[in-house]
Amino acid sequence: MAVPLCAALLLGTPATAPALPAPAAAASAVVPAALPALQAGAAPATVNPLRSLAPVFTASSTSVLVNKSHPLNPLRYVPANLVNARGSGHYLRSDAAGALNTLFNAAAGAGHGLAVVSGYRSYDTQASLYNYYVQTYGQAYADTISARPGYSEHQTGLAVDIGNASGSCGLSTCFGDTPAGRWVAANAYRYGFIVRYPNGWSGTTGYSYEPWHLRYVGTTISADMRARSYPTLEHYFAGNPAAGATLKSGSDIVAVNSAGQLLRYTAATGGSYKFHSTIGSGWGNLKQAFVVDWNSDGVYDLLVQWKAGNLGFYRGRSGGGFDGLRSVGWGWADMTITVGKLHRSHKYPGVLGYKPDGVLRYYPNTSGGALGGFTSTGPGWAGRGITLADWNNDGNSDVLSQLPSGSLLYYMGNGTGGIAYPSTIGTGWQVMNYIAPAFGYAGPGTRGLLARKSDGTLHYYGFGTKAWLPRKQVGAGWGPMRIFK
Ligand code: DAL
Ligand code: ZN
Repeated sequence: MAVPLCAALLLGTPATAPALPAPAAAASAVVPAALPALQAGAAPATVNPLRSLAPVFTASSTSVLVNKSHPLNPLRYVPANLVNARGSGHYLRSDAAGALNTLFNAAAGAGHGLAVVSGYRSYDTQASLYNYYVQTYGQAYADTISARPGYSEHQTGLAVDIGNASGSCGLSTCFGDTPAGRWVAANAYRYGFIVRYPNGWSGTTGYSYEPWHLRYVGTTISADMRARSYPTLEHYFAGNPAAGATLKSGSDIVAVNSAGQLLRYTAATGGSYKFHSTIGSGWGNLKQAFVVDWNSDGVYDLLVQWKAGNLGFYRGRSGGGFDGLRSVGWGWADMTITVGKLHRSHKYPGVLGYKPDGVLRYYPNTSGGALGGFTSTGPGWAGRGITLADWNNDGNSDVLSQLPSGSLLYYMGNGTGGIAYPSTIGTGWQVMNYIAPAFGYAGPGTRGLLARKSDGTLHYYGFGTKAWLPRKQVGAGWGPMRIFK
């Protein structure tokens, strides 16, 4: 393909484009008369939207869910790349062993000596262990402390039992009350581990409290679980309230065809977008729409901006379908907007946008009511594309802006409404006529951009941390569609 895509992406190049907006002035302002708030009680929005929470059952995935109802597949699965973890004689997958090493070193730095007590256990080893417990305690009790063969996380090579280097409280719940145990509970997430069987959640996990059993899930999930206060992997996956909803993922696309039908497209993780279902008709008068959990109830909603200028949302129902349109405001006809949380602490997402005057304004939603008074972020945005996405992976929304020249600029968000001076993270983006953030497209917690080229092809650009991952074409023939997301 002829146009600059990957090859034209620049990393960290200082911006030289003229007339760049100033960094956030954080000046408060009143609600403009032209954009009156409407409908008290209409809930505001959430932006970095929901993660994609489909459970993963691939035995070799660091995200795999293994529990009493989900055995390993195959039952006698053996992981690759097992290594002797810290020379303990217990084996772990090399990725988990490396992360454990970092964790142990950090613990030592904080004054806590840790030891590896158990790691990978084969199907046969787990069978012997489980049978021993059954003979010793009876089956009912054994089932609360030991997995059956084929059902243990230890068989994935991602689970490790740890203890105090001194041996005190070994495989006892009192480990959780020792200084080392407390440090592990508070810090394991930094290294991609979770305490898999936490206190008080036996009803969910099926197992007694095991403060010593860590499961490696990678830092994306461990940090996400912590940020979203999910106590167990079961909550993280099965607790997805959007399981039956019409829009299930922040990577879903909604698009309007020439007949005014609203269509839903989905992509299996890492795959191309495919038509899924028709979810509405008579949508020809849309100016823009967003797939977003507007009322922060865990189910994606549709925020819509009509050509006539009214802004509203359709609340997604957890069992599928939508409530009727609720108004959020009017007078938005000439606004170019995007949706997201410029303030990390806000419960709901707000609207970022500019009028033809080119002044970028953020309309927060801090109360669950209508949009509040805006904050002006500075002039010079007319004619640009704007997207809220977390480019530097610090949990704050950043502003990405596409200039008519094709430069893609990154304005680091400070999490409290301000944005820093920009740097250029790409060129050649003038061939893109649609750009939107995508969440969860490449797996739980992943971030990236969806972009449509002028030739109608659709592309996914994954984010690392202030870096592009290899791009991927995820569709073709999208030219005639009006894509919203
Ligand atoms: N003790 C945990 C549940 C296992 O056997 O995998
Ligand atoms: Zn264990």
